[in-house]
Amino acid sequence: MPCAMAIWRVYLLPLLLLVLLRAFTSLPTQAAARGGADPSSGTDDGKHGSFSRNLLQDKPEITEEMTRGYMSNSELEIAVQDFGRRCANVSRVYSIGKSVNGSPLWVVEISDKPGKREAEPAFKFIGNVHGDEPVGREVLMQLAYWLCDNYLKDPLATLIVENTHLHILPTMNPDGFALRRRGNANNIDLNRDFPDQFFPINDDINYRQPETRAIMSWIKQEHFTASAALHGGALVANYPWDGSRDKRKQYYGCPDDKAFRYMASVYSQSHYNMSLSKEFRGGITNGALWYPIYGGMQDWNYIHGGCFELTLEISDVKWPKASELLVIWKQNKMSMLNLVASLVKTGVHGRIFAADTGRPIPGSLMVKGIDSKISASRTFGDYHRILAPGESYEVVASMEGFTPKRTRIMLERESMNLDFILDPDGAAGQTKRLPRDDCGCSCDDDGKPFLIREAYLWLYLLVVFFLLVLYLLFRRRISSRLARNPPKRPVAV
Ligand SMILES: *[C@@H]1O[C@H](CO)[C@@H](O)[C@H](O)[C@H]1NC(C)=O
Ligand SMILES: *[C@@H]1O[C@H](CO)[C@@H](O)[C@H](O)[C@H]1NC(C)=O
Ligand SMILES: [Zn+2]
Repeated sequence: MPCAMAIWRVYLLPLLLLVLLRAFTSLPTQAAARGGADPSSGTDDGKHGSFSRNLLQDKPEITEEMTRGYMSNSELEIAVQDFGRRCANVSRVYSIGKSVNGSPLWVVEISDKPGKREAEPAFKFIGNVHGDEPVGREVLMQLAYWLCDNYLKDPLATLIVENTHLHILPTMNPDGFALRRRGNANNIDLNRDFPDQFFPINDDINYRQPETRAIMSWIKQEHFTASAALHGGALVANYPWDGSRDKRKQYYGCPDDKAFRYMASVYSQSHYNMSLSKEFRGGITNGALWYPIYGGMQDWNYIHGGCFELTLEISDVKWPKASELLVIWKQNKMSMLNLVASLVKTGVHGRIFAADTGRPIPGSLMVKGIDSKISASRTFGDYHRILAPGESYEVVASMEGFTPKRTRIMLERESMNLDFILDPDGAAGQTKRLPRDDCGCSCDDDGKPFLIREAYLWLYLLVVFFLLVLYLLFRRRISSRLARNPPKRPVAV
């Protein structure tokens, strides 16, 4: 197979070099290599106690005048369908269920292979969770159109379309929107309707609102890496936990606090002026510190879907004049793009394989010191782990029936590709001979990894030793090239 041979020659040596370099750099020198600021060394200030807005009230009355220029539900439905036709190449329109009053909950998925499973991270945006916070639904349609219009023209649009699956639900609460109020048609606040981790509320799935149930099964089905729900009434990127165990208003971080702070900062720092907030340092806040809520969507995503969700307050005014929508879109545009792109440009990504069969397995990935688990997909065994950059981590891949494998990594600003090949229980230590993937599925430009035959490793070690010296000399140049192109070539561990 000429293709496979070429890959051996072109990629294997540099790959082995990277493996060795990894081994070298993960020696004790790393303790001193904690680059960048340590986000855990200071918690959010609790000084923004008195916020004058009342985020929970339906007032002030929403007048006919205020709704002018906003899409009605039927206009939004038409816009979504139009979008599906206009951007048929790179999108798919589907519904995840219906509201109480029977409005379909339309989603547009944007990707170069919409509806197909790929070894790529998936992101979702949800707008209009609260009926009286309609900015999100408008802005999300702008985002969809912008991506469609700029695919293959703008690098960020192209990166998102080609390397992620972006799902956009412009309105989660069409009934509340039509009724001009916060809750749905049953007047239930949907962001209090999810099962809660601290208190036994909302535990019976059968009694959840149809909108809530639709979201819950969507999350179970799609394997999202991250998401954001859009709200209005403030300007801040809010991250878990949303509530605290003792109901006090206090900083209550989840196990992935650092990663969440990083994610929230990606949003606020790319925003026109979110990070300049006087109320929230850096334009981000822990949910429980701001005001604890129970039954929220954000925490449920993280706990039950392994999906890192932010709650974004994108406009001080819940229902601004329609003439301001374009400005608000522009102020949020880079934030939205950078947040989705960060799933590709940062973090640790890879696939988990079984050593005996060479097949991908839906194992899970854990990071030492972080009490959470990210699962790999069933189809491709791909995982996508958001982690704060500039730190060293000990990463463990595991799967029932296999011996876990761990490795220490130094995660820089750019993303890292890390594949795992797990030995079945009891087979550790044996040299495994992996079947080589057929060219058809391993040599295309999808960035899909091929398998390294460990048996050949030793043959190269001698050459590698000499090349390593050379490599170290040119290391700067190579790593700067990696920084420009997020690495697609995997390193197997
Ligand atoms: C969409 O599909 C058409 C026809 O297959 C093709 O010519 C065009 O280049 C595609 N556009 C994009 C943006 O992929
Ligand atoms: C951000 O800019 C808007 C004007 O577009 C202004 O109303 C708002 O007060 C500003 N917020 C911050 C935190 O600077
Ligand atoms: Zn809200």
